[in-house]
Amino acid sequence: MVRQEVDGGVAVLTLANPPVNALGAALRAALDGALAQAIADDSVRAIVLAAEGKVFVGGADITEFGKLQQPPSLPDILDRLDASPKPVVAAINGVALGGGLELAMACHGRVSAPAAKLGLPEIKLGIIPGAGGTQRLPRLIGPDAAFPMMLTGEQVSAETAAALGIVDAVVLGDLVAAARTRALEIADSGALPRVRDRAEKLTPEAREKFEALAAEAVKRDPDATNVHALARAVRAGLEQDFDAAVAVERAEFRTLVEDPRSKALRYAFFAEREAARVPGLPKDTPRRPIHAAAVIGAGTMGGGIAMCFANAGIPVMVIETEAGALTRGLDRVKGLYAGSAKRGSITEAQRDERIGRITGAIGLEHAAQADIVIEAAFEDMGVKREIFSKLDGIAKPGAILASNTSYLDVNAIAAVTNRPQDVLGLHFFSPANVMRLVEVVRAEKTAPDVLATALDLGKRLNKLPVTVGVCFGFVGNRMLERRSRAGERLLLEGALPHEVDAAVTGFGFRMGPFAMSDLAGLDIGWRSRKDFGGRAPVADSLAEMGRYGQKTGRGFYLYPDGARTGTRDPEVEALIARVAAEHGIARRSFSPDDIVARLMYPMVNEGARILEEGIAARPSDIDTIWINGYNWPAWRGGPMHWADTVGLKTVAEALSRFAAETGDDSQEPAPLLKKLAEDGGRFADWKAA
Ligand code: COA
Repeated sequence: MVRQEVDGGVAVLTLANPPVNALGAALRAALDGALAQAIADDSVRAIVLAAEGKVFVGGADITEFGKLQQPPSLPDILDRLDASPKPVVAAINGVALGGGLELAMACHGRVSAPAAKLGLPEIKLGIIPGAGGTQRLPRLIGPDAAFPMMLTGEQVSAETAAALGIVDAVVLGDLVAAARTRALEIADSGALPRVRDRAEKLTPEAREKFEALAAEAVKRDPDATNVHALARAVRAGLEQDFDAAVAVERAEFRTLVEDPRSKALRYAFFAEREAARVPGLPKDTPRRPIHAAAVIGAGTMGGGIAMCFANAGIPVMVIETEAGALTRGLDRVKGLYAGSAKRGSITEAQRDERIGRITGAIGLEHAAQADIVIEAAFEDMGVKREIFSKLDGIAKPGAILASNTSYLDVNAIAAVTNRPQDVLGLHFFSPANVMRLVEVVRAEKTAPDVLATALDLGKRLNKLPVTVGVCFGFVGNRMLERRSRAGERLLLEGALPHEVDAAVTGFGFRMGPFAMSDLAGLDIGWRSRKDFGGRAPVADSLAEMGRYGQKTGRGFYLYPDGARTGTRDPEVEALIARVAAEHGIARRSFSPDDIVARLMYPMVNEGARILEEGIAARPSDIDTIWINGYNWPAWRGGPMHWADTVGLKTVAEALSRFAAETGDDSQEPAPLLKKLAEDGGRFADWKAA
């Protein structure tokens, strides 16, 4: 796991633990042994720490968190570096994250390849750095620069790292050779520069800035235990000596690792990666080449999808039925790119390049050259079937034909073609150029290579593709529909829109369901219920009154003078009471916990049905969809993980109670949920038969 070569008085220790050189027990033992040996070897004057592959070190091994760690620990290794009489220089070839950067910072020098990226992303896993990161980074770059870097967990480029002072130099040529030279220079100088001994960046001004930033961060997210801990650990380094401060950090780290928030975030990290593995789809499934794409429809979705291709360097043609719609669509896309360039998130050259990759055309016949065609037309089965039957005669053989439908039966769409094996659903979320989630809908006849190509393409587009089966609304919208229904029922039973929304934002969503409806437009749900059936007495009444939400200034709330946040409207509250009376429903009050249970348990129940039917392969896929497509708070790990933490017995019993109270049998726990609840089981342990 660690290769050792001694040459010219320098020992080069190369880490080789693919895929990301995570610092698991075996690698730590090998590294510690190699360091001890090099330090003891009289022929060695200096040591270089290098890594094989594209990554320097991807961090501590996250799978070991919360388990008993085999010694040596990473802090043990860093103690050995601190005590080393010989200089150690890190040759940072690629990503150095978390424990990887902590390891590099405990070295006596750091040189970096231009492509390297450095960061302490622990905050994203609900923890803080636990191997001196909160101490060494402030000593290297000042607490005022280190705190925000650890607070966001964002990576910086090698160039930025050099400018900040995290690395000594960016090396264009042979990195290991440069590290050797640097190590020998330090050995010759006779002094061993240790980051722990530095204090020149801990100035009163930097401290003051840090305190202001910390106060702001804690205020912004008062419940984030790790943000508080981060502030305390950095502060300890300003008030206590290095070893005492490291002990504070370590204690904070240990507490956080056991925090349910961190457990949920670690779960979500692995859930996301697990989603890439589709049962029954071998890794070596052949892929079809994708060099050019076509998008049918220049609406908001079509334009957003086209941008995803353009951003990934794939030429894309946007196809419309008439010139006006095409021009409007392309202009909107250009406007979005112009905005990004203005904000500085892309350069002007990138803007022009990306716009240049998008062409427009009138008429489906222009889809003939595309390797993949994505239909993003009106959400209507008749429209979709007509487009697909025409495409069947136009698209080149082997082209992938995808629909961006968010509800409709992809089998029925595929059935109008003579090549159903080439058809699947690619459900992007709005705004498509921003949202990472894509539900990849595997229809009955979708060929394995088509699915594998779509999943690869998703990654190329910088998306998070999750495979789902065909049913109305797939995974996300099918469960969302349960929440919407429960929301309406809550209104009739006595909760008010602002109470429901407050409970949901209190739970951790950025927006409550009624504020969300107002933002999206009440007319959308109303029309879709007209087409697909279903009633939402309150929302439908509001829509019938022309109260479409923010865009009409009135919906569930009032938006006077174009306000972005709504205020309570007595008229709506009276309407709700009236509708409840018409339905003979007695109104009462609900606590926030009651509201959350009544909204979320039916979703979990639907998730159980989705698993029973094989629409999702595993509970963690459902969680990945909800976290990345619907803003479910990641620190609650998604609906299925959350239900496990609540206890499935509690969830099932409550659902039976809701069913009895409302007379709605669909609220009864699904057989799978019932069985798990009876057996004391968890979704986490469930495997498809
Ligand atoms: N511990 C354990 N496993 C890890 C890991 C870690 N720190 N980092 C990555 N892995 C695993 C992934 O689970 C994945 O496993 P799989 O192939 O079995 O699914 C594999 O390594 C590759 O990771 P992936 O994220 O798919 O590769 P990538 O090339 O897209 O990204 C990283 C590489 C290192 C940038 C990314 O994995 C990452 O951000 N890792 C976490 C870094 C982190 O938070 N470190 C702090 C821990 S203290």
